[in-house]
Amino acid sequence: MAALSRICPWWLAPTLDNPIRRLVHNPEKILRRYIREGDTVLDLGCGSGTFTIAIAKMVGEEGRVIAVDLQEKMLEILRKKAAKEELSSRITTHRSEADQIGISDRVDFALAFYMVHEVADQGRFFREVASLLKEDASLLISEPKFHVSKSAFRRMKEAAEGAALTPTDEPKIRFSRSLVLRRNGVSLPRSASFGLI
Ligand SMILES: C[S@@+](CC[C@H](N)C(=O)[O-])C[C@H]1O[C@@H](n2cnc3c(N)ncnc32)[C@H](O)[C@@H]1O
Repeated sequence: MAALSRICPWWLAPTLDNPIRRLVHNPEKILRRYIREGDTVLDLGCGSGTFTIAIAKMVGEEGRVIAVDLQEKMLEILRKKAAKEELSSRITTHRSEADQIGISDRVDFALAFYMVHEVADQGRFFREVASLLKEDASLLISEPKFHVSKSAFRRMKEAAEGAALTPTDEPKIRFSRSLVLRRNGVSLPRSASFGLI
């Protein structure tokens, strides 16, 4: 069970989802190379849904986002936003346990933005995520530099590799340490690495 002190509390939702953050971390810019219309995308630790809402727009009417969080309050905030944007039909919310995501759908892409450092058993987490990825699917993890040291991020990478996930790219996301991982270890061509996003 994760220590609750690790978890970003729901009442900090306004700091996660505001126009200034979107200038720094623009979800469309960060994700457009990974997501196509019609995809099923898993947003792990979705919080109040900054990324979920953008993903729901990117996958279009035929696509789907599964938004997972420990905190029902975060999911409630997200559902309200989705209703306001008329995107509810594309978004499924799921309240996970600290030590189990607890879904069985296979996905085309998974995102874990600023959440893995809150997970107590990262090896278990990555094994479960790996089991949810379709054959050529990838997982993007991004962690805050101010909070996650180089060595902590290296340990995270090792935990992912231990779950048979292979790092294929290190996208440059502002103020972050980031990694793209694939189940089958297919490397992206060098040109797939872009500049700072
Ligand atoms: C710092 S917030 C980031 C939210 C969102 N990804 C974003 O970037 O706006 C981390 C979120 O991860 C959730 N979380 C932490 N551990 C989790 C776990 N084991 N399973 C699911 N969600 C988790 C927290 O409840 C919190 O909403």
